[in-house]
Amino acid sequence: MVHPIWRSRVRACLGALVVSAAPLFLIAQSPSGGRGQKKSPPVRRNFLISRAVPDPAAVERGQKLFVADCGFCHGSKANGGENGPDLVRSVLALRDEGGDQIGPVILKGRPEKGMPAFALTSAQIRDIAAFLRARQQAAINRTAYKIQNVVTGDAKKGEAYFESKCGSCHSPEGDLKGIADKYDPVALQSRFLYPESHARRGGAGLKRIPTPVTVTLASGRKVSGELEYIDDFNVALRDSSGEYHSYERGAGVKVEVKDPLAGHLVLLKQYTDQDVHNLTAYLVTLK
Ligand code: HEC
Ligand code: HEC
Repeated sequence: MVHPIWRSRVRACLGALVVSAAPLFLIAQSPSGGRGQKKSPPVRRNFLISRAVPDPAAVERGQKLFVADCGFCHGSKANGGENGPDLVRSVLALRDEGGDQIGPVILKGRPEKGMPAFALTSAQIRDIAAFLRARQQAAINRTAYKIQNVVTGDAKKGEAYFESKCGSCHSPEGDLKGIADKYDPVALQSRFLYPESHARRGGAGLKRIPTPVTVTLASGRKVSGELEYIDDFNVALRDSSGEYHSYERGAGVKVEVKDPLAGHLVLLKQYTDQDVHNLTAYLVTLK
């Protein structure tokens, strides 16, 4: 699910972020790598292996929570994403016991750094801690754990939802064809939840979705079409017949640009958790 607490804040943190990237082998072999280690006791070699293997049911519950609430920033496998650090190699998460270290971070967040607060129960935090421990142990013993499929929704329901809410702008055979080959399921989910981050990066070879624009000239004449170019001085558009028009933005010229992502922002407030899961399950079939 998209946690309402960070729905509103997430946009603010899509900027520069600190990535804690102390490599695991450093942490396991030396007490002096990574930030925040000075005051804590030295870390023993292989301490992860010597710790108990978490209960698989807790790991599974924790994984579901993590993928839904944290995966967008920290990656679905917790090994870091665009907007949050790797938690498999986080010193804080490595020291955690049953949520004692990660709990305060989850509950308070670090808003100034881009980590929102989450109102999770202590049982949910313990489950997330179990998942992170499993990921840490998997990192040193790759065969011990398998990350399960994050796609839990119903693709058929997702398709129906897509047709009713998304089909006016997207097509599975058109602009979204092959989208599942471009992104892993978690990235794909964040793409439809927060497509502006994609737009910011200037597209990934997909068809551009037109931005509607209307120019009202000083004479009162209106020209509408697809925005081709705009700056403080000029605006250019292509009308429905394909003809290109370019105007100076002088006195009396009014330019109205419609945000092509406005539809997404409206949808963001409407999705239920199930809609999000179903849509993801459908989108991953668009190979
Ligand atoms: C909107 C992005 C975002 C989301 C969502 C998010 N985090 Fe974070 N998280 C961050 C950022 C950014 C940091 C780094 C903060 C810093 O540098 O101190 C962070 C830091 C952390 C840390 C501390 C790591 C360390 O080594 O200090 C933990 C633990 C953590 N997050 C767990 C979670 C969990 C669990 C969730 C889901 C319940 C979650 N985060 C959701 C962005 C996010
Ligand atoms: C009003 C038009 C509109 C509606 C409705 C709409 N979208 Fe979009 N969508 C866009 C625009 C515009 C972009 C940005 C495309 C770009 O930057 O190339 C976008 C981007 C995306 C992307 C990212 C593509 C990429 O390559 O990163 C996905 C996935 C997506 N939309 C899925 C959906 C889904 C699923 C729905 C319905 C729940 C939906 N959209 C509804 C206009 C719309």
